[in-house]
Amino acid sequence: MGVTGNRGWSSSSLSPFAVSYVHNGDTFRSPFRDRDEKGFVDAIVEDLRHVIATTTAGDVACMIAEPIQGVGGFTVPPDGLLGALQEVCREFGILWITDEVQTGWGRTGENFWGYQAHRLEPDILTFAKGLGNGLAMAGVVASASLMDSVNANSISTFGGNPLVCAGALANFDYLLANDLQANSLHQGEAMFAALRPLAEELSIVGDVRGKGLMVGIELVGADGREPNAAAAAAVLEQCRENGLLIGKGGLYGNCLRVAPPLTLTDEECAEGTSILVDALRAVAGR
Ligand SMILES: Cc1ncc(COP(=O)(O)O)c(C=O)c1O
Repeated sequence: MGVTGNRGWSSSSLSPFAVSYVHNGDTFRSPFRDRDEKGFVDAIVEDLRHVIATTTAGDVACMIAEPIQGVGGFTVPPDGLLGALQEVCREFGILWITDEVQTGWGRTGENFWGYQAHRLEPDILTFAKGLGNGLAMAGVVASASLMDSVNANSISTFGGNPLVCAGALANFDYLLANDLQANSLHQGEAMFAALRPLAEELSIVGDVRGKGLMVGIELVGADGREPNAAAAAAVLEQCRENGLLIGKGGLYGNCLRVAPPLTLTDEECAEGTSILVDALRAVAGR
């Protein structure tokens, strides 16, 4: 809540931190969307310089970013964008935090961590959710010198819970032994093959994007751009009625977010994708 730029997840703009926001790299909704990839990346890098110059005193602690936005609607920046932003951060001594809560543990298929698509060397990596597989597990990774600089006491009732750690290790072993990263890539490809053509076929589908088992579908109005939150809600409900639970999000609540378990089988993938495609067609036809 203290750092998010997504109004739907923050009921107040007040925060104990002084937070500035840079462009999120959304290639569908950005004012820079008509530029080629290099022009797009250059514009966002310039935006970062401008934000540092105009909204900070130059003494910024860190930059935090998700390699693919989660509740932001699974927006995928061009590969390499975050690395280009980090070059600017380094000039100013700004540490980079990669938030891998949704992108970690192989979910993006092509990489184990989302940041690896960006020629980026994070100073701090945070993770949660996926590793616990339902158990309350979260963590942070950084160099000893960085972690040791936090010198106040830090202990919590459930932190380091041995039962949860045992569960997380079991999940981790399973994930590695069964190469669930490769499964993410494989199942994601099948879903994208079925869903991407819908952006041409159905007027309500503005954008299909994502990597691996992070599949986002942005729903729009007749002009092809106006956020269509009502259609997103209708597709979500239609899926639920047919036995498929999917998520919703995006800054305007008009993006479907599909993030199945990394253990998804071919049969489950085919069944779920078909329910989703049918729901999109049904809502588009209304
Ligand atoms: C990308 C991302 N980062 C951070 C969080 C918050 O994590 P935690 O609840 O472990 O603080 C969430 C959602 O809970 C999230 O989706």
